[in-house]
Amino acid sequence: MVLKPSISTLILIMLSLTVMTCGNSTDCDRRCLANILVKKELLSAPQGDNCTIRVNITSIQYETLSFDTKEMQMNSRIKVNMQWKDSDLGWTNDTYRFPTVVLPVEKIWTPRIVLDNAVETTTEPYTNDVQVRRDGVVEHSVILFTTVSCEINLFNYPYVFGECPVAINGWSQKSCSLTLSIANNVTLISGSRGEWQTLSVSKNEDKTQEDRNYLFVTLSINPFGAFVTLILPSALIMFADLVSFALPFEGGERNSFKVTLVLSFTMFLLILNEHLPNGGNCSPLLHYHFSFCLVCLVLSMLISIVLTRLSVDGSILPCRRVKVHPTLDTQTHGSLDAEKDTGVIEKKCGGVTSEQAALQKIVKFLENMKKDDKQTEDTMAFSYRLDKMFFYFFVFIYISYIIILICITRTDICKVNNLDFWDDSERDDDNFDYSYNPD
Ligand SMILES: *[C@@H]1O[C@H](CO)[C@@H](O)[C@H](O)[C@H]1NC(C)=O
Ligand SMILES: *[C@@H]1O[C@H](CO)[C@@H](O)[C@H](O)[C@H]1NC(C)=O
Ligand SMILES: *[C@@H]1O[C@H](CO)[C@@H](O)[C@H](O)[C@H]1NC(C)=O
Ligand SMILES: *[C@@H]1O[C@H](CO)[C@@H](O)[C@H](O)[C@H]1NC(C)=O
Ligand SMILES: *[C@@H]1O[C@H](CO)[C@@H](O)[C@H](O)[C@H]1NC(C)=O
Repeated sequence: MVLKPSISTLILIMLSLTVMTCGNSTDCDRRCLANILVKKELLSAPQGDNCTIRVNITSIQYETLSFDTKEMQMNSRIKVNMQWKDSDLGWTNDTYRFPTVVLPVEKIWTPRIVLDNAVETTTEPYTNDVQVRRDGVVEHSVILFTTVSCEINLFNYPYVFGECPVAINGWSQKSCSLTLSIANNVTLISGSRGEWQTLSVSKNEDKTQEDRNYLFVTLSINPFGAFVTLILPSALIMFADLVSFALPFEGGERNSFKVTLVLSFTMFLLILNEHLPNGGNCSPLLHYHFSFCLVCLVLSMLISIVLTRLSVDGSILPCRRVKVHPTLDTQTHGSLDAEKDTGVIEKKCGGVTSEQAALQKIVKFLENMKKDDKQTEDTMAFSYRLDKMFFYFFVFIYISYIIILICITRTDICKVNNLDFWDDSERDDDNFDYSYNPD
């Protein structure tokens, strides 16, 4: 009971003694100074009279890690070097002689950067320690791993140029705010990542509100991969389809070839679907191109089937039975009849008339055959004329399609606004009196 207060007073005296010795500039080393600063527990922001904290961002290093074309998301790594003044961390020349001291980063306040349009952000301090100057200026670096959702106009895929903003800001609530003043010192690290290339990155400001800053990342797609896997094969298949008009259509040889073309084309549709976003405001033109190609291929296949039928039958109606070759019919019947007739005639009249009748039958039979031959010849000629017509029709369609395609890609049909993520609701007024009078 009596001991307790005496022990506590003893501890108090010892503590004050150590503090006093520490206060002596000759006895207290850097570590001791750091411990004194840590003990101050300066974990809240340095709030001046204004309730605004200014943080200078001296330089930014930007790197695009990946761009997901299907999900339209950009992953990037941003290193931010910053500087701010926390006067309570400072000391004077005569108490401690050191110009700088190193403090653990989690023991003092550090500004938290807000990325307004990020889907996900991970912030890591670049180092575990920060350097504090005698005047209270703290130097610190953080690394932000961030995923930004950003719509890029893929209409002309794979010839795409797009911009992605990454909004880097402090925060602002009524009268208090964390203001970042970002120096125009943004460097880009290794621009090429797979299909996507980062062309440039620059610091921009929103025109309406001067405290809204963003990094403007310009991206483009290297078109080689998509050209080789998607555009070139589709063009070649269309060309093969056009050349296959040289195959004869009678035997059905051409039909099987065209079916193969259609099947191989559906494979490219699958690749396309895996690779590109479908839906959205502006579907890539490539989707329409592939649909057009598929329709043309199927159409040309159907036409070739119909022509085969026409050449065999002389009619394109599918429900009509394929006629057995008429010459065979008349041949057998005719010859039987002729034998019967000749027998009867021989019994009746004798040799001469029977010979004549037989000759007549043969002539008639030959005439019939000739007529049939002429008919099939006519049908064939007609089919070939149709075939030629369809060939020119397709050539015409393809040429006009290419012209239209070039015209469409030259125009800016789709416009994308990526800067619509700012939140204006924080700026609403309320009735609280925020005015402050320092006496
Ligand atoms: C600091 O230490 C020196 C000797 O090392 C001593 O003369 C001086 O009185 C000390 N000052 C304080 C404030 O303790
Ligand atoms: C306080 O804010 C005003 C503007 O609102 C500015 O001009 C002034 O420099 C600020 N003072 C301090 C100490 O930050
Ligand atoms: C940009 O920042 C780097 C350090 O990250 C520095 O070396 C360079 O001098 C700065 N450039 C300008 C123009 O301030
Ligand atoms: C921040 O930048 C401004 C203007 O460049 C400068 O006056 C100020 O001293 C800087 N503050 C710090 C803590 O470096
Ligand atoms: C700090 O002390 C050194 C001498 O030790 C002197 O030259 C310098 O001017 C002093 N600085 C301040 C800010 O008092």
